[in-house]
Amino acid sequence: MTAKHDLIDLLSRRPGTRVSGSDLAQALGMTRAAVHKRVAKLRAQGFRIDGASRLGYRWVGAADRLEPGGLRRGFVRDVHLFDALPSTQDEAKTRALAGAPEGTLIVADRQTAGRGRLGRAWVSPPGGLWYSILLRPPIAPDAVPALILVAALDWARVLEARGVPARLKWPNDLWVEGRKVAGLLTEMSAEMDRVHWAVLGVGVNVANDPPGGTDVPAASLKQWLGDRVTRQELLAAWIDRFSKSYRRFAADGFAPFRPAYAARSWLRGRAVRFQTAAGAATGRAAGVDATGRLMVETPRGTVAVAAGEVSLLRLNSR
Ligand code: BTN
Repeated sequence: MTAKHDLIDLLSRRPGTRVSGSDLAQALGMTRAAVHKRVAKLRAQGFRIDGASRLGYRWVGAADRLEPGGLRRGFVRDVHLFDALPSTQDEAKTRALAGAPEGTLIVADRQTAGRGRLGRAWVSPPGGLWYSILLRPPIAPDAVPALILVAALDWARVLEARGVPARLKWPNDLWVEGRKVAGLLTEMSAEMDRVHWAVLGVGVNVANDPPGGTDVPAASLKQWLGDRVTRQELLAAWIDRFSKSYRRFAADGFAPFRPAYAARSWLRGRAVRFQTAAGAATGRAAGVDATGRLMVETPRGTVAVAAGEVSLLRLNSR
């Protein structure tokens, strides 16, 4: 854990209570001046901390304000923040058609018509992270679905680094302890061998209450992280990771990411139901192949599933 997180932990454990600069300095093994500097840095990131070294510092709360400056990093060039949008996907697609550059990021505090995969509605109240990013990947159209697995893997790593045991549910969901916390979606325009644009949409339940009545159980990150992280910090961390992964994927495909994806697979070893051209089938999920297809062992042999819905036959089945 970094010193930054130690400081957040120390203060947020006693919300509303003043902790003196010298107590913090002693607990963290640093000088009061260094504590002061760290507090200033956290405030610049939007964390709300009252007071001063001599008076004592008081935790008021994690910030929930997104700052475009801090999100313009890695391959993200243009950042557009909205209080509300019908869907960040639509906004990004409109801009894609108008010629916006790769790395255009659209974030909304809430969506009034958020979309999930397979035409489902995506409930998007304030407190969650709802964004879409415009890509113009130099890859074949049939490689785009695997790129999304990589984006999901980067989210799993961002959460893991903060102590959240995130698992990947093929193709594009993140689950924690048996509940879905995030989903990813792509839409694209392509010719046979060339992608014009792809819009990657990501929804993460962060501080919002998880939606009820969904087909799978849902949860929000606040259950594991309280208010110790901000949407800004999470999104910035994901952009940093994905900027590197995106370059690597364009050069080498999914194969280098396969072991890391498989290690975090939520489905691996579980009984699943999936769709084939001939209808629904069942089997045991066995991992992903080098192109990102889900391998399912069935009584008739191993089937590679490239797209579509895969559901657990029983929650928590093994
Ligand atoms: C899924 O799990 O079905 C995918 C959900 C994707 C939701 C995100 S929220 C931001 C972007 N805008 C949308 O309307 N949908 C995606």
